[in-house]
Amino acid sequence: MAFTITKAVIPAAGLGTRFLPATKAMPKEMLPVVDKPAIQYVVEEAVAAGLTDVLMITGRNKNALENHFDRVGELEATLLMKGDIERLRKVNYATDLAEVHYVRQGDPKGLGHAVLRARMHVGHEPFAVLLGDDIIDERDVLLSRMLEEQGKRNATIVALLEVDPAQVHMYGIATVEPTDDDDVVCITGLVEKPSREKALSNYAIIGRYVLQPEIFDILEHTPAGKGGEIQLTDALQTLAANPSIAGGVYGVVFRGRRYDTGDRLDYIKAIVQLAVDRDDLGPDLRPWLKDFAKNLE
Ligand code: G1P
Repeated sequence: MAFTITKAVIPAAGLGTRFLPATKAMPKEMLPVVDKPAIQYVVEEAVAAGLTDVLMITGRNKNALENHFDRVGELEATLLMKGDIERLRKVNYATDLAEVHYVRQGDPKGLGHAVLRARMHVGHEPFAVLLGDDIIDERDVLLSRMLEEQGKRNATIVALLEVDPAQVHMYGIATVEPTDDDDVVCITGLVEKPSREKALSNYAIIGRYVLQPEIFDILEHTPAGKGGEIQLTDALQTLAANPSIAGGVYGVVFRGRRYDTGDRLDYIKAIVQLAVDRDDLGPDLRPWLKDFAKNLE
């Protein structure tokens, strides 16, 4: 019988230097995307896929994250007193969303190192990793499809997106072979952030992974790679090259809507894209945007 995966690991220890000074005293994961912090979208996605046990790998300066998923007695009492039930519902929703645990990364030695910090919590079972910079539109399916494939293949599953070849240097890039499933590929090799010239494809890893527990032993022995950091991509490459260890690595090719909140321009685009589709903001924002765009010409 397939194992039911319940644990999600969310690395959130990055310094957010691209957003300074906004991130001087606040974690980048708390930056609002419309009216919700970016991290809440990611936790909501995990919960929607059935993952109710969330472990965040945090660092210094991340108290706001813990506060966001905790009760705020004073605020709740004030909203209740005012009879503002709608806002109270929003506040409580974030609190009750999931069982959230925290562990600190300590030294910022890279994504692979952050994932290794989840070992004690995860134990010997498959688990998901969600990176906070990527927001997947809730109307499109990705994580539950990946979990389904993990159950079927008992292998490591990563999310892939075909990107513009000019962008391959920003991602882990996979060499792939087709499978019988139209949206699933077998990954034969992975390289972290290759140059455009060296990239063997334009299949980029986006921040969703379903990992086998064997990844921990591999990460323990993975030397520092690109940027002097322990790279998750390098550990996945070891698994892809040795399918006998844990069933190999497969990619679910995502063709839906994904928003990148990792850099300033993409962050602005994400906010606009999400806001125009909202019932409460879209009807006013759309005509304003059209008008605004006209004046840019
Ligand atoms: C990380 C991974 C990279 C992956 C990317 C997806 O890079 O190292 O392999 O493609 O996330 O967003 P980062 O964006 O943290 O530099």
